[in-house]
Amino acid sequence: MDIPRAWEQALQQDLRGVLMVIGAPDAGKSTFAQYLFRRLCLNGLRTAYLDGDPGQSRLGPPTTITTALNPENQTGFPPTGQWRRWFVGATSPRGHMLSLVVGTARLAEAARRMGAVCVVHDTCGLVDPSSGGLALKLAKIDLLRPAVVFAIQADGELAPLLAPLRRSRRVRLVELPASPARRPRDMSDRQAYRRDRFASYFAPARLLEIDWTRRAVLPRPFFQPHQLVALEDRRGFTRGLGLVHSFDIPARQVTLLTPLDSLSGIETLHLGDLLVDPQTFRDSPLHFPPMDSSRPSLRPNTSGK
Ligand SMILES: Nc1ncnc2c1ncn2[C@@H]1O[C@H](COP(=O)(O)OP(=O)(O)OP(=O)(O)O)[C@@H](O)[C@H]1O
Ligand SMILES: [Mg+2]
Repeated sequence: MDIPRAWEQALQQDLRGVLMVIGAPDAGKSTFAQYLFRRLCLNGLRTAYLDGDPGQSRLGPPTTITTALNPENQTGFPPTGQWRRWFVGATSPRGHMLSLVVGTARLAEAARRMGAVCVVHDTCGLVDPSSGGLALKLAKIDLLRPAVVFAIQADGELAPLLAPLRRSRRVRLVELPASPARRPRDMSDRQAYRRDRFASYFAPARLLEIDWTRRAVLPRPFFQPHQLVALEDRRGFTRGLGLVHSFDIPARQVTLLTPLDSLSGIETLHLGDLLVDPQTFRDSPLHFPPMDSSRPSLRPNTSGK
C-alpha cells in the first residue's frame, strides 16, 4: 500500500470525534479510512469504523451501512467487536438519501454509546452536485458535526464541495492527494464485488417462515420473490437480511432465506428496493411497484365490470 507523505502528516495531530473521509469514486477513501482506523487503534484510542457506503460496503452486506469496534487491545481491520447496522434498502444513495443520512447519524451515536472516542466515517463516492452529492455531504456534515473532514481528490473533482466548505469554515478541512497507486473499478467490477459480498453473507442461510401480521412491515406488506428484506429490532437497527423465497397471502406468511437463526428481538420487516437472485447473487433494482400481495381484493378491477 502506498502512503503519500500528506496522509502521514495528516495524522500528526490530535484526532477525536467523527473523522469523515470524502472523495469521488475510486479516490482511495476506503483505503485511507482503513489506514486511519488502524493507526488510531494502534495509538490506543477506542475507535469505531463507520462504513457509510451501501454499494461497495466493507463491513456489512451491500444495501446496509455498519459501525463496528475492535475488542479491547485489538487493532485489525475489519473490526471484530460490537457492531450496529442500518438498512438503506438500495445499493445507491440516489432515492435513498433520507435513510442514508438518518442511518449514519444513528450509527455515529451508537458508536459513541459503545465507547468510541473516534469514529472513522468512510463515505460513498456520490459528490456530483447535479446528482445531489453536494446536498448529501453538506447534510451529513451539519448533522454529524465531524471534527475533521478529510477530502481526497486527484484532479479538482471536489471543487464544488470544497469551495464553500473552505469559505464557510464550518468544519476543519484537511485536503489530501489521491495516491497514484489507486486503481479504478468499472461497473462490472463493482457488481462482482456486491455479488461476492451477498454470496458470502447468505452462504449459511436457511428458510425461515414469518407471520407478517405479528410484525411491522415497511413500507407495506407487498412482497416480491427475491426481494431483499431487513429484519430490524425495536431501535430500527438491522439484525440480519433475508431474501423473499415465497409468500402465502391467505395465511399471511412470508418465507425468507436468511442467515438469522431466530426472530427473537425482530420487530420490523423492512422491504428493500432491490432483488437478489439466490442462485447467482446478482442484484437488480426494483423499478416498478410490486403487486399488493396482502390484499388481492384491492387490486384494480380490470375486467370492466
Ligand atoms: N494508497 C493506496 N495504495 C495502494 N492502492 C490503493 C491506494 N489507494 C487506493 N488504492 C486501490 O485503488 C482502488 C480504489 O481504492 P478505494 O476502494 O480505497 O477507493 P474508494 O474511494 O473507497 O472507492 P469507492 O468509491 O468504490 O468507495 C482499490 O483497489 C485500492 O486497493
Ligand atoms: Mg470505498
